[in-house]
Amino acid sequence: MAILKLQDYNIYVNEGLQILQPFTQNYSSIFVLVDDNTQKYCLPLLEQKINSFKLIEIPSGEIHKNIETCQSIWNQLMKNNADRNALLINLGGGVIGDMGGFCASTYKRGIDFIQIPTTLLSQVDASIGGKLGIDFAQVKNSIGLFQNPKAVIIESDFLKTLPFGELRSGYAEIIKHSLISDAQQWQQLSKIIDIQNFNNWQILIEPSLQIKQNIVQQDPFEKGIRKALNFGHTIGHAVESLALETTQALLHGEAIAIGMVCESYLSHKADLLSKNQLEEITQYISTVYAHYSINEADSTKLLQLMRNDKKNQNHQINFTFLTNIGQCQINQTASDKLILESLAYYNSIT
Ligand SMILES: NC(=O)c1ccc[n+]([C@@H]2O[C@H](COP(=O)([O-])OP(=O)(O)OC[C@H]3O[C@@H](n4cnc5c(N)ncnc54)[C@H](O)[C@@H]3O)[C@@H](O)[C@H]2O)c1
Ligand SMILES: [Zn+2]
Repeated sequence: MAILKLQDYNIYVNEGLQILQPFTQNYSSIFVLVDDNTQKYCLPLLEQKINSFKLIEIPSGEIHKNIETCQSIWNQLMKNNADRNALLINLGGGVIGDMGGFCASTYKRGIDFIQIPTTLLSQVDASIGGKLGIDFAQVKNSIGLFQNPKAVIIESDFLKTLPFGELRSGYAEIIKHSLISDAQQWQQLSKIIDIQNFNNWQILIEPSLQIKQNIVQQDPFEKGIRKALNFGHTIGHAVESLALETTQALLHGEAIAIGMVCESYLSHKADLLSKNQLEEITQYISTVYAHYSINEADSTKLLQLMRNDKKNQNHQINFTFLTNIGQCQINQTASDKLILESLAYYNSIT
C-alpha cells in the first residue's frame, strides 16, 4: 500500500478501490470506459465503489486503438450530454488508458480522467507518464498528446484474471526498470523463475513504477533521461512490428525481452557492460521467455524498421545501453554490422 505523489496527481497503489469515491464527487456525470474483457472481469470490482455512471464499451485489442473507436467514444459522450465537467474513468489495459485518456483530453478541449490500469503492463508502465494516443496509418501511437490524469489507481487484485501471456509480457517492463536503474530489484527478480505460479505481484509493482515515476518526473517530455525507458525497445519494437506481419505474433513484452538481450549484447560490445553481466541477463531472460527464432532473411527489414523509429535523431538509430546492471547511458549508436550480430547472438541462445 502506497501513495506516490507527483507534481499534479497521485498514484494510489493497493489502497483499495474505495479511494475512488472522493474523486467522483462534484462531476456533472461519470463515464466508465471498458473493453469486453474488463467489463466482464474488472467492472464487477468497481461497480460497488461508484454511485451512478454510464458505461462506454469498446472491443478489446490493439487493432481497435484507432480513430474509429475514438469516434464511437466521443459519440457516446456527446449522446449522453457529457459537458466539460464530466469525468471519464478508464478501466483496462494500456489500450483503454492511452485511447480513453486521448479521447478525454480532446473532448470539448479536455475533460478530467482517471486511470485504473488492469494489466501488469499498464500498472507498471502505460498508466503513468502522461503519454496518450492512438495508432494511425499503421504507425503505433502516431497521434496523441501528453496529459496527466486526475489520479492513477492501481489494484493488483485485477491481475488475478489476466492471462499468463499478458502477465509475462508486462513483467518485461519490470525487468527493464530494474536493469536500467535498480540493481537490488534485479537481484530480487532474478530469483523468480516460475512466473506462471508467481502471485505476489504487489511487491514488485510499487518499486517498479517508482523507477518510471522518478525518470518521468525529471524529463516529462522525453528530451533526455526519459529515453532510458527505451532500453530494449529499439530492437524490440522492430521485432514486434515484423512479427505482426507473420503468424507468429509476439506480445509487446515478449519482443522487448528479445530487444533487451540484443541491446545488452550491444552494450557489451561497446565496452560498457561486462561479459558476466551480459550472460546473467541473457540467462535469466531466456529462462522466463520462450525462445523465438528471428529469421536471418528478415535482418534488412528489421534494420529498416529501426531506421524509421520516431526516437531517432540525425538518421542514427538511437539506443539506450547498460553500463552495469542497474545503470544505463542514453543516446548510444551501433553499426549495422553489430546490430545484425546482436540478433545472431539472440538466435544462438538455446
Ligand atoms: N502510454 C504509455 O506510456 C505506454 C507505455 C507502454 C505501453 N503503452 C500502450 O499500452 C498498450 C498495451 O497495453 P496492454 O498490454 O495493457 O494491452 P491491452 O490493453 O490490449 O490489454 C491486454 C489484454 O488483456 C485484457 N485485459 C485487461 N485487463 C484484464 C484483466 N484484469 N483480466 C483479464 N483480461 C484483461 C484486455 O482486454 C486485452 O485483451 C499498447 O497500445 C501500448 O502502445 C503505452
Ligand atoms: Zn514497452
